[in-house]
Amino acid sequence: MPDLRFRLNGVETHVDADPDRSLLDILRGELGMTGPHFGCGAGECGACNVLLGDRAVNACDTPLWSVADKDVTTPEGLGSVGRPHPLQRAFIAEQAMQCGYCVSGILISAAALLKRNPTPTDAEVRAALDRNLCRCGSHNRMVRAILRAAREMAAS
Ligand code: FES
Ligand code: FES
Repeated sequence: MPDLRFRLNGVETHVDADPDRSLLDILRGELGMTGPHFGCGAGECGACNVLLGDRAVNACDTPLWSVADKDVTTPEGLGSVGRPHPLQRAFIAEQAMQCGYCVSGILISAAALLKRNPTPTDAEVRAALDRNLCRCGSHNRMVRAILRAAREMAAS
């Protein structure tokens, strides 16, 4: 198997695996990253989202070979319990989840949005979440949380 290298949450990482396996499979199965969730497995729900550079991508639909020498960030890389990302703080403050299954992918989509647009409008946040499914109907609270995080980040 080829030795494939990339940066995972800022740490140089290598895996010996079939390069055609999905990034989600490698992250969860080989590297212990359970933040990205398996939902549809078909690029439709966004639960598996990770940052590839500054872009949110579906890890279930991303082959391992395509991330060689790139930066991959999972929800674990956004923040920690001791140092949560402003988005994570805002989601807690706004109680922006019910079951929480979709939230890891939504945090990644929101982080990508705030990287390219630090002061989004309500409509821009909704558009950024367009490809993230939430069956619990928490989207309005999530939008409030993302706008709250954007305000906090702009003020710091
Ligand atoms: S599990 Fe990847 S988009 Fe649904
Ligand atoms: S909070 Fe349950 S699917 Fe979104």
